[in-house]
Amino acid sequence: MSIAATPAWKALSAHAEEVRKHHLRDLLPDAKRATALTAEFDGIVLDQARQNATTKTRGLLIDLAKAAGLKERLAAMASGHKINTTENRAVLHVALRAAKGTKIVVDGQDVVPAVLKVQADIKKFSDAVRTGKWKGATGKKLTDVVAIGIGGSYLGPEFVYEALRTDPACAKASAGRRLRFLANVDPIDVSRALEGLNPATTLVVVISKTFTTAETMLNARTVRAWLVKSLGAKAVAKHMVAVSTNLKDVEAFGIDPKNAFGFWDWVGGRYSVCSAVGLLPLALQFGWKPVDQFLAGARSIDDHLQSAPFEKNLPVLMGLFGVWNSSFLGHSTRALLPYCQALLKLAPHIQQVDMESNGKRVALDGSVLPFEAGEIDFGEPGTNGQHSFYQLVHQGRVVPADFIGFRQSQQPVKVKGDVVSNHDELMSNFFAQPDALAYGKTTAELTKEGVPTALIPHKEFPGNRPSNVLLLEKLTPKTTGQLLALYEHRTAVQGFIWGINSFDQWGVELGKVLAKQVRTQLAGSRGKAKAPVAGFNPATAALLERYLK
Ligand code: F6P
Repeated sequence: MSIAATPAWKALSAHAEEVRKHHLRDLLPDAKRATALTAEFDGIVLDQARQNATTKTRGLLIDLAKAAGLKERLAAMASGHKINTTENRAVLHVALRAAKGTKIVVDGQDVVPAVLKVQADIKKFSDAVRTGKWKGATGKKLTDVVAIGIGGSYLGPEFVYEALRTDPACAKASAGRRLRFLANVDPIDVSRALEGLNPATTLVVVISKTFTTAETMLNARTVRAWLVKSLGAKAVAKHMVAVSTNLKDVEAFGIDPKNAFGFWDWVGGRYSVCSAVGLLPLALQFGWKPVDQFLAGARSIDDHLQSAPFEKNLPVLMGLFGVWNSSFLGHSTRALLPYCQALLKLAPHIQQVDMESNGKRVALDGSVLPFEAGEIDFGEPGTNGQHSFYQLVHQGRVVPADFIGFRQSQQPVKVKGDVVSNHDELMSNFFAQPDALAYGKTTAELTKEGVPTALIPHKEFPGNRPSNVLLLEKLTPKTTGQLLALYEHRTAVQGFIWGINSFDQWGVELGKVLAKQVRTQLAGSRGKAKAPVAGFNPATAALLERYLK
């Protein structure tokens, strides 16, 4: 039965009509409501007082979670059941950060010892590279790393790298080292990634779960040619390593499988940052200690997800209000707004985690959903976003937002003579924006201020726009891991409630097939045979002919 047919869903639909009558301006002064809609865990405060909701809403959403069997589904995920039914796979990114001694069995085998073994291998290898024990072909220390990968084999590692690189301890640990990412098959990206690098001091990490992704493999061949041109073919053994589940193809590519770091089919690409996909480049750049702290942060949220009651469970509450805003209040977009420049790659990463997971049209049983699942996620750090798209968010469409802020900066600055520190200036905006969205500004207020009548409609803010506020102590390796797990689990919670498979991605396949047909055409047309363009519709054929001219 579709979740939309349950009494819990119907109760929420009816309740949404009631809630629409309330403005946040009237709800926010209620201190009891504010306390009730705030939850806290391990240094993270989640304030949901600015949701278009009453405490009754939260109760009804928890009823919906129960009707969807959320607790059982979360437990099935954590215990290795094959919940990715279309690929017959378990979904065990939580095993990647499991504590030593935890037992998680897939196909009769405890997977945790294998996870810990790869982590130990990464630690050993990254230590050897960082200390210079592992040298390049010319005997030089490898100070720079180029991580080649795309999608889940890129976005998560880059998000974490950016979050950590201005953390003082991480900055110290990575002094003199560089980490670059190469994702796009666009040759411009190759040129940017290699700019200023010396092959003799560069280690290349090819990251691909399948080791067949067209973009990654062409980029890997391109960078291999760059290495070989300057150092000779033998250098590949010292300068290229891999992260993959497909060790056979790693070897066929010319990388010694001894220098490959494995993971498993129960790790989805977009959930793989805690596997060797993220851990290897991050450990090479920062050393193992912050990597371990990052894993501990993610683990803290994993444990909380499974053990906390729903009304105190941060990722569950975030997921429930995601469903509320999307399915009951009709908001199809949402914004991720960290007031922290080091989180500039959080939104791009969560875009993949969430949109590739929940951008689905059918339920687990293949029936077409009677509602739209998945939101359009986008975001930008504050205050930059304020000077970009906040106009639309305040006076145009309603976009539920997540504001993420920190009590302390990674890089505190106070200019002599300025009234507040630079971080306090940033946070003044952080605290102001959610209330500006919630309260808005009325005609009466504008009239009182003496605004000319003709300008009043232009200066009016309707308000009543929902947001979550997340306040943490400081962006550290641990809190980076917590944020990652919060958002991974928010996605899973929403998918479980909607009754979809959040762990497959068939929607990316069609474009790949068509690109193959175009590739064959381009090769044929550019070759000796000068094959004429054939097999495309007239519009595409005309474009291809123009491109080939
Ligand atoms: O975009 C489709 C996808 O399959 C993603 O799910 C995945 O993260 C990405 O391609 C890269 O895949 P791989 O790690 O196998 O190269």
